[in-house]
Amino acid sequence: MAPNYKTEKVTIFGSGLIGRSWAMLFASVGYQVTVYDIIPKQVTDALADIKVQLETLEKDGLLRGELTAAEQFQCVKGTTELGVAVKDAIYVQECVPEDLNLKMKVYHQLDKVMGDNTILASSTSCILPSKLSEGLKHRSQVVIAHPVNPPYYVPLIEVVPAPWTKPEVAKKTKEIMLEIGQEPVVLTREIDGFVLNRIQYAILNEAWRLVSDGVVNVEDIDKVISEGLGMRYAFLGSLETAHLNAEGMQSYIERYGKTINSVSKTSGAIPNMNDSKSAESICEQLNKLVPIEKLPERRAWRDACLTRLSILKNEMKKTYKK
Ligand code: NAI
Repeated sequence: MAPNYKTEKVTIFGSGLIGRSWAMLFASVGYQVTVYDIIPKQVTDALADIKVQLETLEKDGLLRGELTAAEQFQCVKGTTELGVAVKDAIYVQECVPEDLNLKMKVYHQLDKVMGDNTILASSTSCILPSKLSEGLKHRSQVVIAHPVNPPYYVPLIEVVPAPWTKPEVAKKTKEIMLEIGQEPVVLTREIDGFVLNRIQYAILNEAWRLVSDGVVNVEDIDKVISEGLGMRYAFLGSLETAHLNAEGMQSYIERYGKTINSVSKTSGAIPNMNDSKSAESICEQLNKLVPIEKLPERRAWRDACLTRLSILKNEMKKTYKK
């Protein structure tokens, strides 16, 4: 039987770490993927890396989609010509470094060559879509599709519209994300930090305060997450966790609402990490736990854990149909 390829073209604009993951996600369902980079060697390296990654995933039984690794790799092509990269693409996923000036330069280039129906989605972790698209002819076609690293195993995508993004652009982006097996959430409006980083920063700030105040050390505060909250949060959000922790949310509010409010009032000021007396000690403790030269090893371990967790989550979803 002939492989089930799609005819639509998507373009990955910037072929670094995140660009390569996006290329693999789109190829997993048979999109015609064009990988572009300003540096020719980045394109050839990306293609070689994607091939090895797909083959390894296949060997380990972790390849996504119905197509073989070779069939998926067939879908991915490289180019260093911007016009060729974007021509006829239904969707462009921008993955250039997190630098507003660079991104704005790139968006102005793309604005000149993109079609009137092309979606231009940014991988940016924190730049607001209105900043990226202001003044562009095609500004209503720009949206954020923010992934979480490594996107092959962590499926969340934050879809963030600018005030002028056409609703159908956010809607179609959500549909495409679902199609490639990710889990999109669509924000109703742009907000600094989007949602994931606002939550992440709230946790990071409280962790910083507790260590700074000498309540716990670095190892133990991280244990609270990895051996406590995180165990549940891999499966349930904080609101459903609360709902289950009492006889429903209403009962949770009655039981714990006042306590949560009064404890939260004791949290203190927002730490300024750049100017914090605790920074040296926190860095020292972390360097002791994971020396800088061991970071690649520890990242590989993290990715192995996430791989296993994503398998478990998929199994559990099938069992409970959630
Ligand atoms: P990276 O540095 O690995 O890759 C960036 C690529 O863009 C490089 O291949 C570079 O040659 C290319 N590039 C630079 N200037 C260019 C230009 N003018 N035109 C075309 N290509 C150009 O960066 P990474 O980590 O892949 O990040 C890309 C985007 O994804 C950033 O906005 C980042 O905030 C976002 N992101 C990154 C995550 C991560 O964990 N690395 C997670 C979520 C989002």
